[in-house]
Amino acid sequence: MSQSILWQLQYEYYQAQGINAWGQGQTPSYITSNSFIARQYAEVVFGFFRDLHRKGIAQARVYLFEPGAGSGQFAFLFLKALAKACEVAAFPVPEFCYIISDFAERNVQFWESHPQLQPFLDRGQIDFAVFDAGKDTTIKLRHTGKEIKAGSLQTPLIVLANYFFDSIPQDLFYISQGKIEEALPSLTVEGAARHPNPVKLLKSIQMEFEFRETASKYYPESAYNDILRYYQEILEEGWLLFPAPAFRMLDRLQSWTNSGLLLLTGDKGVQTLAELKGMEMPEIILHGGFSLTVNYHAFHQYVSANQGLGMMPAHLNPYLNVHCFLFQEDAETFQELRNAFASTIGEFGPDDFFILKKVIQSRIPKMKWKQIMATIRQSHYDTRVFQKLLPRMRKLVIGLQAWERESMLATAAKVWEQYYPISSGDSLAIDLGQLSFVLDDFASAKTYLQHALKTVAGSVEIFFTLALCFDQLEDYVAAEKYL
Ligand SMILES: C[S@@+](CC[C@H](N)C(=O)[O-])C[C@H]1O[C@@H](n2cnc3c(N)ncnc32)[C@H](O)[C@@H]1O
Repeated sequence: MSQSILWQLQYEYYQAQGINAWGQGQTPSYITSNSFIARQYAEVVFGFFRDLHRKGIAQARVYLFEPGAGSGQFAFLFLKALAKACEVAAFPVPEFCYIISDFAERNVQFWESHPQLQPFLDRGQIDFAVFDAGKDTTIKLRHTGKEIKAGSLQTPLIVLANYFFDSIPQDLFYISQGKIEEALPSLTVEGAARHPNPVKLLKSIQMEFEFRETASKYYPESAYNDILRYYQEILEEGWLLFPAPAFRMLDRLQSWTNSGLLLLTGDKGVQTLAELKGMEMPEIILHGGFSLTVNYHAFHQYVSANQGLGMMPAHLNPYLNVHCFLFQEDAETFQELRNAFASTIGEFGPDDFFILKKVIQSRIPKMKWKQIMATIRQSHYDTRVFQKLLPRMRKLVIGLQAWERESMLATAAKVWEQYYPISSGDSLAIDLGQLSFVLDDFASAKTYLQHALKTVAGSVEIFFTLALCFDQLEDYVAAEKYL
């Protein structure tokens, strides 16, 4: 199945759409691109940095690599959170550079010109690359021009990949009574000539499978065949997704460094044998592009075959499973990393946060001021959470004491730090401007609203509020300009 023409359509979709695949919400991304998940990943990576320091490994720059980074929002939020952790570190944090990559050139261009990423670029903490998981063996960093290839790195490579392994090719098998057959999709498209664009084409595809008996050495890589054979023996009947292309990509990434690899990855996926047993035919989920579920159980087999260590949450998650894989011979001894994973994602992870956010959303009209503040803090000042709560906050402003108003303004400023606009219609600056205005902080209100005018067309309400702000600040000339 990994050779199917389906994947060519996926490629064409993302190439053609660029950032528009996210701007209008076609590609689901909130659960993998919010302040909560970014903070948890940063804590885990920070734990890893501690281990590297303790073991004296990180003498040179450490590279973090994100394939299939999409909008870049996760990278931005993660770097913000990691910077905060590093500010107060009690040990010398290694120099690091985050390589944000995708196979879609237009995404790379979007990040290159994104003002929010500029400060990290100035500090040498970010670089950009085009990387196709299916074939690329090297990458060329767009800003520094550095090429990374086999043997380039002296420090471990940290790979962060969300909603990625569900979007790249996989193989599909059917197992029955000890027999394993590969499932080869055949696609029929109704009215293909009328749908030259990949979105419409994908929607009109009908898929059927033909089955072909699988040779004992199906893959050229004997380690993959061993895992396949294990499933053949242990699963009685059912479908099996097999992430061979993901393993090949990880093999290539491992060759870039002589110092091991850490992979942190979140996807909708299966992690236990019980879930794999009797698995039904995998569904292809369309959302502009398409995705499949991820067989994380196989990733755990793969890391074991590499003498590494796999970590998973203590519980199953309905929407997003985050796993951590350390490809190091002495992986067991990375206690700081293991502890950071267990005490964050392992106990209460991004999926739990997502579920609770939905519960809280239904309670907003009744929420009290202190509950609202606690919710925003618990989300690590997530912009979406803030925007959902804003109408209620505005209603509560009148009854607040001075210190509560101060606290609300300080919270608003922290939310602003998480701002990463994807489309030009983003209204966060307007929301913060209007909130600051009703809280009588005219200087902040003016700054937010002026910022908003750089990307959105001004409305009568914005101009009038700006005029009132300048009036309160006794800048009557500026006030008049907005009337
Ligand atoms: C579902 S999106 C996820 C984006 C982002 N990681 C997130 O969590 O929002 C999948 C991303 O993977 C990229 N992608 C798909 N196949 C790829 C491949 N073979 N190599 C590199 N990137 C790929 C797409 O361009 C897209 O940005």
